[in-house]
Amino acid sequence: MRIGILTSGGDCPGLNAVIRGFGKYAFENIKNVELIGIADGYGGLIRGECREMKPSDFTGILTLGGTILGTSRQPFKLMTVEDENSVTRLDLMKKNYKKMGLDCLLTLGGAGTHKTAALLSAEGCNVIGLPKTIDNDIWGTDVTFGFHTALDVATECIDRIHTTAASHGRTMLVEIMGNKAGWLTLYAGLAGGADIILLPEIPFSPEKVAKAVAKRADAGKAFSIVAVAEGAMTEKESKMKKKERASARGSDVTITNSLAKYIAENANVETRVVVPGHIQRGGSPSAYDRVLSTQFGAFAGKLASEEKFGVTVAMVGGVVTYNALADIAGKAKLVPKTCQEIETGKSIGISFGD
Ligand code: F6P
Repeated sequence: MRIGILTSGGDCPGLNAVIRGFGKYAFENIKNVELIGIADGYGGLIRGECREMKPSDFTGILTLGGTILGTSRQPFKLMTVEDENSVTRLDLMKKNYKKMGLDCLLTLGGAGTHKTAALLSAEGCNVIGLPKTIDNDIWGTDVTFGFHTALDVATECIDRIHTTAASHGRTMLVEIMGNKAGWLTLYAGLAGGADIILLPEIPFSPEKVAKAVAKRADAGKAFSIVAVAEGAMTEKESKMKKKERASARGSDVTITNSLAKYIAENANVETRVVVPGHIQRGGSPSAYDRVLSTQFGAFAGKLASEEKFGVTVAMVGGVVTYNALADIAGKAKLVPKTCQEIETGKSIGISFGD
């Protein structure tokens, strides 16, 4: 059995741990297996760039961040666009799947990767997906690998901001990754003891946020911590289209920066913005993610050995299982406005700006 492996979309800690779990399982359990590493995600499949991987490629990488295969973003909407010779990226990927002699393709990636994986599967390729992303927004799985490590980093960041905010009596806004899904901000905000948590799923009122800060100041709490998802938006902005929102906010002005200015002007406090950015995606996976990734990788190996294709690995209720790619592709697991974590936050006085 000849299996291609690719990692696609934004990287995260745990990709190499999954590759390792899969490779070790395959060499242990699948007769005459050949593993082919495809460079830079779907980009390598489009270009036909790959290399044979040996058992030695799968050792010593459990704790290594990033991906040994490289990755790239290849927008789903461009997959079926014809070039000047009427050839699409999908055509090229299908051609190279055959040329590489693959019996199966393993795709490690997030929402976009899964959409393309489902398309390749519908077009006759044997695909097994693996749910990667710090955003934790893949439908049908309780958790994605990479999320817990990013959560640890974002929480550590809020912890460190706490002490300096308290010393100076400032309102500190920490911008956490997540454009559409606020899981990372919600969990890091709760774990880091944020006073205000702003998520893309819950449009906020800047007035209410400023009032929450002022109320804390009036109660003698000189500092406040605001955890802001990078995709958070005001109630007014939520009624606009994406482009309209960007031009209304002004080019290069982030929600966190504009809110910091608003709070400073309306709550009469000093504000600072902290953006941990890609640090949340870098470095070694946490112990939790190492275990999850190993389980996911080995399980994908089992699926391959059983020739169970057109699926993606998932964790449901603490059990590793799978979903049909066709069932989950194109759906996003967003934070429900009424989830228990939000109820808990509100019950202890955290403002969500709504
Ligand atoms: O999908 C993961 C993620 O880190 C998001 O949280 C973030 O919005 C985006 O990727 C950033 O993408 P890039 O690395 O391409 O800037």
